[in-house]
Amino acid sequence: MGINPKLNNKIHNEDCLKFLKKLPNNSIDLIVSSPPYNLGKEYEKRVALKKYLNSQKEVLTECYRVLNNTGSIFWQVGAYSENGILIPLDIPFFNILEELNMQPRNRIIWARQHGLHARNKFSCRHETILWFTKSDKYKFFLDQIRVPQKYQNKKSYSGDNKGKLSSNPDGKNPGDLWVFRNVKHNHEEQTIHPCQFPEDLIARIILSTTKKNDVVFDPYMGTGTVAVVAKEFDRIYLGTEIEKKYLKTAELRINNKHDKKKEFANLKNLREFVKKNKIKNYSDFKFQKQISKKPSLESKIYSEEHHKNALYERLLFEENCFSSDIKNMPRPEDPLKHNHGLFKRKKWIRRLLFNL
Ligand SMILES: C[S@@+](CC[C@H](N)C(=O)[O-])C[C@H]1O[C@@H](n2cnc3c(N)ncnc32)[C@H](O)[C@@H]1O
Repeated sequence: MGINPKLNNKIHNEDCLKFLKKLPNNSIDLIVSSPPYNLGKEYEKRVALKKYLNSQKEVLTECYRVLNNTGSIFWQVGAYSENGILIPLDIPFFNILEELNMQPRNRIIWARQHGLHARNKFSCRHETILWFTKSDKYKFFLDQIRVPQKYQNKKSYSGDNKGKLSSNPDGKNPGDLWVFRNVKHNHEEQTIHPCQFPEDLIARIILSTTKKNDVVFDPYMGTGTVAVVAKEFDRIYLGTEIEKKYLKTAELRINNKHDKKKEFANLKNLREFVKKNKIKNYSDFKFQKQISKKPSLESKIYSEEHHKNALYERLLFEENCFSSDIKNMPRPEDPLKHNHGLFKRKKWIRRLLFNL
């Protein structure tokens, strides 16, 4: 028995566990989600960690039941912190998924350049995405998500393939280090939700593990990123969101519509609407998180490759600065030319190390 078609292509305003219990066994092809992290954000109540993990286990047990034999779960989590201690949530979640008899495929690191600055430990600059499958007959379509090779035109030196391209001309496997920019200020996809997925990150997951008309489920839809991407690539979407205000925004976003106040869910929707309808004077319209009176419709969209290079250059620069400081040598040039004047070596480090 499949899912009642009336439930499809909708986000349901109810508790995910209650909803999951209504779904038949083996009816979903992909579950991709980011649950609340029990941090006390605006959409969650903080509870004891054990209680939180027990309730997540209940949800994941149901997720496992409704998943097809060829299906996958992608569970995206960060860290839980309390009184200065930090628990990377993927560790307990890995155990929960293994106990359900699921098979681990990848632990993807989602690295970021920005975030809160910690005082008493290293600042968190990554979250994780656990990929588990229900069996070893899972779907994985690498050709759908290849990225450029570093040396695309490299040829074999010797052997039978001498002179032929040594790497796949369609590109390489993107790897398990992902650097999609998180959806914060100035991101064209940003809605009223504080913790949105970037659409491209979800596109990589959906394209690599599902086919057209497969069913994609997100129990914690927020403002509907998983639904937006599933719809774009002709997958059936299904999900739950408990907060009405996020659900309303998700519906505006999925249907690329504005509300009665002529507000769109985000800048991307506004831009697409204006282009599609060839509207010249768009100042009648707004989007929910709008700051400037008349935003630029030509917001820049950078590839993951761009963010990866920028992150790599930045980390290398920071480490080179540190190496120079402890060796009492001049710091290197900032490759991105940010804050030029501020990158002088700090005097206190010299004093500390060399008693100068
Ligand atoms: C981390 S956010 C997900 C954001 C989403 N990935 C996006 O791109 O917008 C978690 C969401 O789960 C919702 N939520 C929390 N408990 C829920 C429950 N029991 N059932 C359904 N939704 C719930 C919250 O309101 C919140 O919007």
